[in-house]
Amino acid sequence: MSKIRHLVDYFIPEHYQLNLDISKSKRHFSGTVAITGQPLQSEIRLHAKQLDIKSITDGSNHQLPWRVDGDELVINGQPSKVIVEFAGTISETSMNGLYLCKYKLNGEDHELFATQFESHYARQCFPCIDEPAAKATFDISITTDDPDDKIVLSNMPGKLVDGVWKFNITPRMSTYLIAFVGGDLISKAGRTKNGVTVSTYATPAQPAESLDFALQTVIKSVEFYEDYFGVTYPLPKLDNVALPDFSAGAMENWGLITYRETAMLVTDGTAESSKESIATTIAHEISHQWFGNLVTMKWWNDLWLNESFASLMEYIAIDHIYPEFNIWDEYELGYVASALKRDSMPGVQSVQQEVETPDEIATLFDSAIVYAKGERLLKMLRAYVGEDVFRHGLANYFTNHQYTNTEADDLWQALSDVSNINVKQLMDPWLTRPGYPIIHVSLDGDQLTLRQEEFVVTGKNEPNKPWPIPLFSGISELPAIMDQKELTVNLDDPTRTVNLNANNQAHYIVHYDDNLMQRLIGNFSDLSATDKLKLIRESLLLSSADIQDISQLIKLLNVAKDETNQAIITTVSGGIGNLSILVEPGSIEQTKLERFAATLFQPQFNRLLGQSSQDWSINDRKSVSSVLARSVYGKVAEAISFCHDQFTQHQDNLTNIPGDIRSTVLSAVVKNGNNDVFDELWQQYQGNQDADLRLDICAGLTATTSHQCIAQLLAKVTDSKIVKSQDVVYFIAWLTWNKYSQDQAWQWTQDNWNWIKDTFGGDMSFDDYVRIAGNNLHTEQQLVEFDNFFSKVAQESPALRRSVQIGHDSIINKINWIKKNRPVLNQLLD
Ligand code: BES
Ligand code: ZN
Repeated sequence: MSKIRHLVDYFIPEHYQLNLDISKSKRHFSGTVAITGQPLQSEIRLHAKQLDIKSITDGSNHQLPWRVDGDELVINGQPSKVIVEFAGTISETSMNGLYLCKYKLNGEDHELFATQFESHYARQCFPCIDEPAAKATFDISITTDDPDDKIVLSNMPGKLVDGVWKFNITPRMSTYLIAFVGGDLISKAGRTKNGVTVSTYATPAQPAESLDFALQTVIKSVEFYEDYFGVTYPLPKLDNVALPDFSAGAMENWGLITYRETAMLVTDGTAESSKESIATTIAHEISHQWFGNLVTMKWWNDLWLNESFASLMEYIAIDHIYPEFNIWDEYELGYVASALKRDSMPGVQSVQQEVETPDEIATLFDSAIVYAKGERLLKMLRAYVGEDVFRHGLANYFTNHQYTNTEADDLWQALSDVSNINVKQLMDPWLTRPGYPIIHVSLDGDQLTLRQEEFVVTGKNEPNKPWPIPLFSGISELPAIMDQKELTVNLDDPTRTVNLNANNQAHYIVHYDDNLMQRLIGNFSDLSATDKLKLIRESLLLSSADIQDISQLIKLLNVAKDETNQAIITTVSGGIGNLSILVEPGSIEQTKLERFAATLFQPQFNRLLGQSSQDWSINDRKSVSSVLARSVYGKVAEAISFCHDQFTQHQDNLTNIPGDIRSTVLSAVVKNGNNDVFDELWQQYQGNQDADLRLDICAGLTATTSHQCIAQLLAKVTDSKIVKSQDVVYFIAWLTWNKYSQDQAWQWTQDNWNWIKDTFGGDMSFDDYVRIAGNNLHTEQQLVEFDNFFSKVAQESPALRRSVQIGHDSIINKINWIKKNRPVLNQLLD
């Protein structure tokens, strides 16, 4: 546990009796909380933020002397019970603490109230010891004054008794997992094999059938984990609510999981890729019911215990429940790609990270590290120890630690106990150190030499201790783990193909000498899909670190162009996307790159778009948007007219465009059309209650090349009547990616920083705005602007410092990459 002062060291709470009175119309709540527990010192400290404290008494109604110290209430004395009367405001702007959600039904405005307490916002709703280790039981009652609040939900089952919603007492749990939602909701319910009642909810503005897929997936996930972890789901019910305003993607509150609408609701028009990511989101949050809720990290430095694990389990569960999704391919495209990119930047954080203040806690949620890299490390461990050991160790871990708190070592111990492996020794270097290794491989006669060093894209790597790398080489002459800097072995068959890190199981990349690379390319068709896309991705990384230029990447894109696996198609498409930052609009290089895209994608276009969307397989459905988008980019005439026809046919009901291609079609018609198309879509965006469709329209709008349309969008994004604040990030990300709008969007970011700070400060989405700039800006002048602007910002918001540093390095890296590779592209694509 970290060394800072924790409030649980003053008073160990055992039980909370919480009564809340909520008035949506007055944006106000008041309440009483009675906390019983064990005093340890001469004062008690409770977290309380933005609350108005009315009185504090002990169990026998005596006033207790108290004062405020920052976000803490300091209460003198050693009572075993404190009762606090308080009041507060329901937030309309930030989506933390107790806040308001808004939606329209038949043109009328409606509201819900909801909560988001992770990581430290319970203190904005009631005084408490708001630390994960301060587990207690909670007895909650809620009253509301609004007849529209037809139902109020909390973690445990509730009943309306004489106008008061009374909930069953919870098991021992942490405050960040408490939740309530109230309003008018539609629902569908079912039951698991073991009798847990599962419900899915949304506002009445959503079609009831949009709850069906989530309901099935929740039920199957609970059943899967009960079996996998060997511990039954501990609560009598599990509710899942799609909220119209939500800051993150989803939140695992125990027994009451909350989601963004696009992260839970599925209709016939939902794209296959969105449906699958909904499945993994659900499985992620449900795995937290064990990992995180039943067993919780002691402190936030072990946040990865929650998030890396849930990120692994989501794929294990969905692969079992829906094998037809081939969900591990999505993992390769998502987490693996983002971990390799982010973790190659100097100054990146490690998975396990010391944190003290709440501000620092928010910065922990670097999803490329705590989710993606952490998950990749656990997957590496699982591959190394084997599935049986892994599962057996986990089952012991849950049985031994349920309802309590743990740290990393408890998990390593549980896994070591069931294997002959010192798991801590293997994993510590990976978790506590940032970065990852590259292995340079060369063959001289029959001597195969492997040399590892840290892979840093800016090349500024200091000599580092070697990592213990599980090689997964399939070569019997090589050890299972390479923990030295360099090693040489004699190959029995020196003509063989060398494919290290088979199926991309470990967190390292490989740089082969020319001869070995030629063999791999020669045997490309024999490799697994994962190994194929691994080669393409690694070649991009090698070029970004200036170990080679882009000629090998282009060669690989050509070799892979007839592959029909969607993960490879998507990776090839991503490769074109990366190359596109080398070219300026209207340049000769751009024409060449467009022609290259057309050669790669026109045959795929003919294959997929030549048939009815009814006939697309799951694999086709996940291929088609990349294929169409790249064909449009390549100016393939049939592709452009295909989009145009789809739009004119369905412009009065856009949901009739197949969901898999809708955003691509809308982007194409906006890009290649006049301002009328833009105006028409902007009209349809406003007030639309279908969040999925709104997002597709947003993709369309932000593809515009018209300065005037761009200005029109940017002028309105902060108007919450038009764009929900949860959705602003999509507009800014996509406008900053679009070369025609990049300068205006970057200017907007600087001009509206105060609004961004007021709306998202302290949230995990706050540093999205730094990342968006860092990931897209790529000129010398933009670098100067970025540095000027963000050096000031980082001074007032220290939590952003790391992202600012990484953004700075990433822009420099792009500038150098472009300088070197633009001429290469020009020459190669002649
Ligand atoms: N616990 C997180 C959500 C969270 C994190 C809320 C930090 C507030 C602060 C949740 O389990 C989660 O990881 N959600 C992800 C989606 C998931 C499928 C990767 C999210 O919201 O992005
Ligand atoms: Zn999570």
